[in-house]
Amino acid sequence: MTDLPHLTHVTHPLVQHKLSLMRRTNTPSNQFRQLLREISHLLAYEITRDLPLITERIETPLKPMDAPMLKGKKLALVSILRAGNGLLDGVLELIPSARVGFVGLYRDEETLQPVQYYCKLPDALDDRVVIAVDPMLATGNSSAAAVDLLKQAGAKDIRFLCLLAAPEGIARMKEAHPDVPIVTAAVDECLNDHGYIVPGLGDAGDRMFGTK
Ligand code: URA
Repeated sequence: MTDLPHLTHVTHPLVQHKLSLMRRTNTPSNQFRQLLREISHLLAYEITRDLPLITERIETPLKPMDAPMLKGKKLALVSILRAGNGLLDGVLELIPSARVGFVGLYRDEETLQPVQYYCKLPDALDDRVVIAVDPMLATGNSSAAAVDLLKQAGAKDIRFLCLLAAPEGIARMKEAHPDVPIVTAAVDECLNDHGYIVPGLGDAGDRMFGTK
């Protein structure tokens, strides 16, 4: 189990500056993706800050030392499609040995409820730190459903990484999964009637891939 608090709001100036650039309507898709990749490194740093270390005897050119190394805790990254892939790429650069899973959920535009269309997860999830990634924690319905799937597959140490969170989504996750810490770059004002985060940045998938 993790020692992280339920909500970590990463207020680092680099994160905040890059996020503001992403929010701008006229930021093109290529810059949007690049900024998301850069922010994901900084968010990944926060969400992994409690990973346990051991010391291992190593030789430096000058003398032997007991050097801190990750305790061999296995990691899995799970992207909630499709916008999750934008965060996944950057986190995977930082943790290249992590296993990767994908959960496909789309939001029914009328009920705002998640509908599952794909699920492919790494094995032995019960033995891994599992980081679910989705840039937008909006209603929290898809996020809570994705975490349900991870728990059904045996995951015990689950963390949720997002770029923007709405208070409604945070509350929904806290109610459904109080054991899952959330790391986010911002907590925005509210959701609009269509379930979009306000002020937000629009549809993260569309902004990333240049679709409408
Ligand atoms: N998904 C998005 O991409 N944007 C929002 O504002 C809410 C959900």
